[in-house]
Amino acid sequence: MAASIVDLRDSAAVVTGGTRGIGRAIAERLALAGARVTAVFRSETRAATELSEWAAAAGLQVRVEQADVSRSEDVEAVFDRHLAAYGTCDILVNNAAVLKDALAPMMKLEDWDRLLAVNLTGPFLCSRRAIRAMIRQRRGRIVNVISPSALSGRIGQAAYSASKGGLLSLTKTLAIEVGRFGILVNAIAPGVVRTEMLKDVPEDVLAKLRSNVPMERFGQPGEIADAVLFLVGPDSGYITGQLLCIDGGISLMGAAETR
Ligand SMILES: NC(=O)c1ccc[n+]([C@@H]2O[C@H](COP(=O)([O-])OP(=O)(O)OC[C@H]3O[C@@H](n4cnc5c(N)ncnc54)[C@H](OP(=O)(O)O)[C@@H]3O)[C@@H](O)[C@H]2O)c1
Repeated sequence: MAASIVDLRDSAAVVTGGTRGIGRAIAERLALAGARVTAVFRSETRAATELSEWAAAAGLQVRVEQADVSRSEDVEAVFDRHLAAYGTCDILVNNAAVLKDALAPMMKLEDWDRLLAVNLTGPFLCSRRAIRAMIRQRRGRIVNVISPSALSGRIGQAAYSASKGGLLSLTKTLAIEVGRFGILVNAIAPGVVRTEMLKDVPEDVLAKLRSNVPMERFGQPGEIADAVLFLVGPDSGYITGQLLCIDGGISLMGAAETR
């Protein structure tokens, strides 16, 4: 991967779900730009080890932290250790999420609760903690990862769409609350990117999804990470409360096959 032209050497970042999939690409991009990165993961220790080894080989500063973002005590501990290691928290990327499809009438309450806890309460807990540090610093960038399905809805994704729609609303509210402290809060909506999150989606459904993308291909994790780099870098200093779709145009296709 080429060196970045965005210089984040004065920044420290927390990326949730930062050890695999889209989050890993984001953690790598930020580290390559010079940021000191804490990547939070839930259970896949092998992915965390791989990221640590990659960073060590590249001479970059990346810490990995095992935590459940839906648990307040976990989140507090992650930020305590991040601040102890790196001194500041300038960037937060709320990327961690889970997906479990079921038609709403059949959805178990425990599945609904879990999706909302990880995908919406998690970003709230992380943002609340990060903002306390950012207010002291009088600067900060928060990027929340939502989904086109938050905009159009999708069959089988009542909980996922609701969690991501809630996260978009949280983005806008936080942007209003903290703008005066120099803290910018934005959201991105990746299109379909083939990660572990889609491992249970049948090939015929994926093919249908692909055919519904105006650009006729899926996205790459690095293409999502490039947008995050823009939103946390110096060229987006007057953008807050906005949603950037990096989706090959799929969000233009209404309530059809979007994830
Ligand atoms: N892939 C897509 O097509 C797509 C489309 C639109 C939006 N998105 C969004 O993009 C983001 C990244 O998706 P992805 O496809 O890269 O997902 P992924 O490959 O499934 O990775 C999810 C990451 O989140 C972490 N995570 C899950 N639950 C957690 C918890 N409770 N606490 C802490 N970390 C937790 C996982 O940790 P472990 O590795 O330890 O499990 C993993 O690192 C998500 O917000 C997703 O909704 C994805």
